Amino acid sequence: MKNTFFENDFLSTAALTADKVTELFQRADEMKKIVSTKGSTDVLKGKIMAALFYEPSSRTFGSFLSSMQRLGGGIIPLNGMTYTSVSKGETLEDTVEVFSAYADVLVIRHPEAGSLSLAAQFASVPVINAGEGALGEHPTQACIDLYTIQKKLGDVNNLNILIIGDLAHYRPTNSLLKLLANYPRVTINLATPPEVPIQDSLRKYLKQKHVQFQEHTAFTTLLPEADVLYVTRVKKEYMSEALYNKIKGSYRITGVMVNAMKKKSIIMHCLPRVDEIASDVDKNPRSVYLTNQVRNGLYVRMALLSLILRK
Ligand code: CP
Repeated sequence: MKNTFFENDFLSTAALTADKVTELFQRADEMKKIVSTKGSTDVLKGKIMAALFYEPSSRTFGSFLSSMQRLGGGIIPLNGMTYTSVSKGETLEDTVEVFSAYADVLVIRHPEAGSLSLAAQFASVPVINAGEGALGEHPTQACIDLYTIQKKLGDVNNLNILIIGDLAHYRPTNSLLKLLANYPRVTINLATPPEVPIQDSLRKYLKQKHVQFQEHTAFTTLLPEADVLYVTRVKKEYMSEALYNKIKGSYRITGVMVNAMKKKSIIMHCLPRVDEIASDVDKNPRSVYLTNQVRNGLYVRMALLSLILRK
């Protein structure tokens, strides 16, 4: 099969066709086998990944580092730019040009809109978006989420997917909703506090792609029909204190609530969570947010790095 990811940037899920998703997920299956049998491989021996994280991260940063090392490659790990020359005023353009000389791929998280496409313009090696801006995308997380849904529930087309919480500022679900545009028969329900619905631009994108979705402000009556419940965090860091205080805690899932769901449904959250999922949901058999969803992060990111860096 032709490797369509080789030497390309990975900035948005809008560019991912169903065929590309299949290509990525087949490679992720191979990576899962490698990790469970040998732990690692040397397929990326001699390659270097620079992780340039201008914003906090635990999972994305940690799993990209683990992925590159399990593939036999080397890492330049910068988690926070305080102790780099960015604190002296160095521009993103100069930073990516410099790190392009040291590394074969740049994995970047940045708080500003447009930063990833700017980085890709100035980098001479592929750039992977590890989370961009308050309103942007987090495409690798969305691929992990879709991979988790497929592995647990099969054909995405027949599923009822309920996404709840602050969808105005949630990069992973911005990317996931664009990915779901590849599945014309999927049912999507979005339940948000009225102050934080999906962005107008995303609503317009989904309508252009003929994605069937409905927006709500309450979610409990939607739970019994849902195959997937995807819970999001209220993004305190991207809103005023007044708005945060108004909507925090308004979408909280408890063990009693999820027992109304189908036995074979799953509960997802890409983490970190604060208080939107009560701890009595963690051990519910439907919950995958601390187990499959986290582990799949490694397999999907290994798959992506191996496809981008080796023909
Ligand atoms: N899911 C996710 O992006 O987590 P981090 O912010 O910890 O990387």
